[in-house]
Amino acid sequence: MEEGERLQKVLARVGLGSRRTCEDLIAEERVKVNGEIAELGRRVDPEVDLVEVDGAPIGIRPGLVHYLLNKPVGTVTTASDPQGRPTVTQLVPVEPRVFPVGRLDMDTEGLLLLTNDGELANRIAHPSHGVEKEYLVQVGSALSRAELRQLREGVELDDGLTAPAKVAVLDGGLMRMVIHEGKNRQVRRMFDSVGHPVERLIRTRIGPISDRRLGPGQWRELSSAELRALESAVATGSKRSGVKPSSSASVDR
Ligand code: URA
Repeated sequence: MEEGERLQKVLARVGLGSRRTCEDLIAEERVKVNGEIAELGRRVDPEVDLVEVDGAPIGIRPGLVHYLLNKPVGTVTTASDPQGRPTVTQLVPVEPRVFPVGRLDMDTEGLLLLTNDGELANRIAHPSHGVEKEYLVQVGSALSRAELRQLREGVELDDGLTAPAKVAVLDGGLMRMVIHEGKNRQVRRMFDSVGHPVERLIRTRIGPISDRRLGPGQWRELSSAELRALESAVATGSKRSGVKPSSSASVDR
């Protein structure tokens, strides 16, 4: 039996696209193994062989994948839904199996991480790490100064007082809000509590990760720089800056 795994399978697993797309990368001579242009049918051992695409080494830890998905409205943030509704995991490759980091409501759109990296997922999701999450929030009419102040200072929900939030008014009832807690349906409940139900909610940033060009339903692998920035945001508390999106892709608004 031949040793190693098929190169296109390894490339697909680290999020470079479907196996078919990865075969095309190989055919286009964009993939090198140990410094030499790889041929279709090549087998590799990802733990031993150096695999590069367009001159950049793939994945920093073999087997772990980190996807950024722009979740469309109407999908459920779960790996499988007993009611048979469309799930976010159906929008990304089946193998390796990944799970969502935190959750967005069915009616909420925007950026969601999916990974098989349990350790990083736990650290991002844990409220003590305070990773910032930024949302675009659309409500029916402009908030008063007093209502904005309440949101910024914290509002009493049935599971406790919310931490101070950043809220910027962009235009009438359209606002940008940044929070670092992860209470269930937190943004919707905060706006409900000041009498302005949310009409549209889009997550536009998770810590240092944003991508205005990733369209609804599209996903991509985090770049190594983004992964490093995310790991350092989790280690030090959240950061805004750091990484430019590596691919073309948009939060439709
Ligand atoms: N806050 C909400 O209300 N819903 C989400 O999906 C995320 C944050």
